[in-house]
Amino acid sequence: MELSYSTVSSVLDSWEKLRAHSDFEETVGIQLFQNFLTLQPNAKLALGLPKDLDITSRATMEENKRFAKKASYFVKFFLLMIGKVVDMLGPDMDTVEDILLDLGQRHVRYGVQPEFYVSLGQALMTTLEANLKPADFNAPVKAAWVQVYAAISHSMIMGHNQLLKETQQK
Ligand code: HEM
Repeated sequence: MELSYSTVSSVLDSWEKLRAHSDFEETVGIQLFQNFLTLQPNAKLALGLPKDLDITSRATMEENKRFAKKASYFVKFFLLMIGKVVDMLGPDMDTVEDILLDLGQRHVRYGVQPEFYVSLGQALMTTLEANLKPADFNAPVKAAWVQVYAAISHSMIMGHNQLLKETQQK
């Protein structure tokens, strides 16, 4: 995994701008989940949501609140992971990779399929684009996000595949 300092700091800068959004968790979080689940309705089960929940319709307030809770929980972890990657940039990239391999293995147990990562990446880009000013989400910033997300999800999918291989061998 190779990420330059400028790539990661560009992601962190725009992430901070996004967090400054007045209702980051409620609005941005719900949008991320709606975008993700629109692309990947099969992921509902893994997130503990009813299979037939229509996320595109105007959800009731109750459902919105449940969404927001899940979304903010997830968004928090996501930030934590990016933070970890940044902290360990440089000589310690092997450690980050090990952490992400483990994380990917745990996600197999959460019912996550490899293709969910692709949809989440797409949903993330759409959500960033919709909530950041065009100047703050310009081509280089977007490219940095794509690179960071690809690196993280690639290692997680490797962990996923490793675990499946190990279980098959047993
Ligand atoms: C790059 C992408 C992702 C990152 C960085 C990420 C990160 C995390 C982290 C740090 C946790 C905390 C629990 C742990 O450490 O084992 C977690 C939990 C979880 N993630 Fe992800 N995740 C990603 C993608 C996904 C996707 C695509 C799904 C699809 C549905 C998903 C579903 C879940 C679920 C269901 C949990 C467990 C929540 C619970 O404990 O109730 N994650 N994720």
